[in-house]
Parts: sequence; structure tokens; C-alpha cells
Amino acid sequence: MPKKLLSLMPEFQMITDKKLREVTIEVWRKAMEKGKWSVEDLEEMPFTLLIKGTPVNIIKHTRAVTLCSVRIADVLLEKYGEQISISRDILLSGALLHDVGKLFEYERKNGEFVKSREGELLRHPISGAAFASRFDVPDEVLHIIAAHSKEGEGARKTVEAVIVNHADFVNFESLKM
Ligand SMILES: [Fe+2]
Repeated sequence: MPKKLLSLMPEFQMITDKKLREVTIEVWRKAMEKGKWSVEDLEEMPFTLLIKGTPVNIIKHTRAVTLCSVRIADVLLEKYGEQISISRDILLSGALLHDVGKLFEYERKNGEFVKSREGELLRHPISGAAFASRFDVPDEVLHIIAAHSKEGEGARKTVEAVIVNHADFVNFESLKM
């Protein structure tokens, strides 16, 4: 399954630190196991329940947010490289994991994806960060997951968390039109 997951999300390979790359993949793999989702399920899983019938699945969304994040970081570093520092690996890991909690937020009823009881109680930034914290995931990455949606509004955030937060909203808002 890791191979299937890797071919579905080649952006895992962009993480240069081997340990961080492996743990990022491991969290996804274990989250799929916990949610009892197959790779095929993920290809059908909408990235949001707020845009009815969206054809964009969670894989496409996660990849788009990850690539947007990296490109934003590249521009910021090009223009403000002397003022800010950004860890590309932390950014990649956080972007790849930002929505992993959705694997617990959803369940399938009569073929339809709906909100699970767990999702009613804990939104995906919380459940995702809590789940990832069981693994050897750096706090900086947990911070990105926990602060990426409205949970992070008004909170002090790292540059990497600001980038993923906004990249996520750009991807959501533009499809909502
Ligand atoms: Fe997202």
C-alpha cells in the first residue's frame, strides 16, 4: 500500500529528510488503516462536504495545496530571503498531512460520504494533529495541521503554517465559486 500511496501522491518524495518523509507516509498509511479506507476510496473521497458533488478528491486537493505551498515559499524566499526562513521539509510534511484528519471526519453511508460521529465532535485539524502526535512527527508539523483552518484564525503561526493555511483557503474558495 505505501507504494500505491506514493504513486498517488509523489509529493512525499519531495521531503528530503528521510525520517520525516517516512513518518509522513506512515501517518497517512495508519490513518487509512484506522479509517478503513483503501486507496480507491480516497480517489472517491471529496476533499470537502461543503461543496456538494465536488469532483475534486482528497488526494488531488492535498497535492494542490502542497504544490501551492511550495511555490508560495519559493517566491517568499526569493523576495524576502534575508528577512524570513522557511523549512521546506516541514512545510511539505505539514501540507501533506493538513487534511489527514478528514479520514476520520468522514464515513460512508449507502455509498455517500457523510460526517462521522467523530467528525461531529472533533474537526479534522484537531483529530489530524492528535493522530499525527502519536508518531514521531515534529511539533512544527503538528502546528501546521492544527492551525490550518479556522482553528488557526487569530492564532500566532509559523511562516510554514501561514502558508499552508492560505494555500488551503485559495484552493477551497476558488472551487466554491
Ligand atoms: Fe485542505
